Amino acid sequence: MSEKIVAPSLLAADFANLQRDIEMVNQSEAGWFHLDVMDGVFVPNISFGMPIIKAIALHAQKTLDVHLMIVDPDRYIKTFANLGANNLTVHYEACNHLHRTLQSIKSEGMLAGVALNPHTSVNLLEDTIQDIDLVCLMSVNPGFGGQSFIENTYQKVRDLKALIQKKNTKTLIEIDGGVNSGNAAKLIEAGADVLVAGSFVFKSDDPTATIQDLKQRIN
Ligand code: DX5
Ligand code: ZN
Repeated sequence: MSEKIVAPSLLAADFANLQRDIEMVNQSEAGWFHLDVMDGVFVPNISFGMPIIKAIALHAQKTLDVHLMIVDPDRYIKTFANLGANNLTVHYEACNHLHRTLQSIKSEGMLAGVALNPHTSVNLLEDTIQDIDLVCLMSVNPGFGGQSFIENTYQKVRDLKALIQKKNTKTLIEIDGGVNSGNAAKLIEAGADVLVAGSFVFKSDDPTATIQDLKQRIN
């Protein structure tokens, strides 16, 4: 069984001490940096964009997992590749031509991810799953950190895992929103591979230890 990954979301980091928080993640047992880009249109919040990602990329020594919560993401695929993104995830709900978008992401040398809002059925990926490297299941409504985990996510993980096995693809399952020590192991048991955690890590007293604790619970 391949190793399960903890991906701290820098949305919950201290932006006035971003380099310190990046170094913490570098030194920790985290596998990826999860970077949330919000445009104030697809979601009711604006987070950060290119200059911040450029600064993060200068210091981050692990996979940059970029989650685009923006309309018309095709416009920026090349830009994020040039900034150093390793994984680029777009929202199913934001793409009119998802297949083409996935091909464009891959042609830039990045892993292609698709995020699903809580209301979006995993069955809608039946015809694209073979082209998707990573599915990000939103376990909160996207736009903000610190929200409560939606319990229906467990069933979605099981359904998605069944689809991946049926189609015999290597697609990774990532869970994003409200992840904590109480649901981490259960999510992995259901079939998840990557757990994003924002508030639970950065608002804890000892973020390094919190990452280590999550990592131990899922491996
Ligand atoms: C929400 C973002 C998440 C967020 C998770 O729209 O996509 O990545 O940072 O934060 P927590 O772990 O606090 O729910
Ligand atoms: Zn995210």
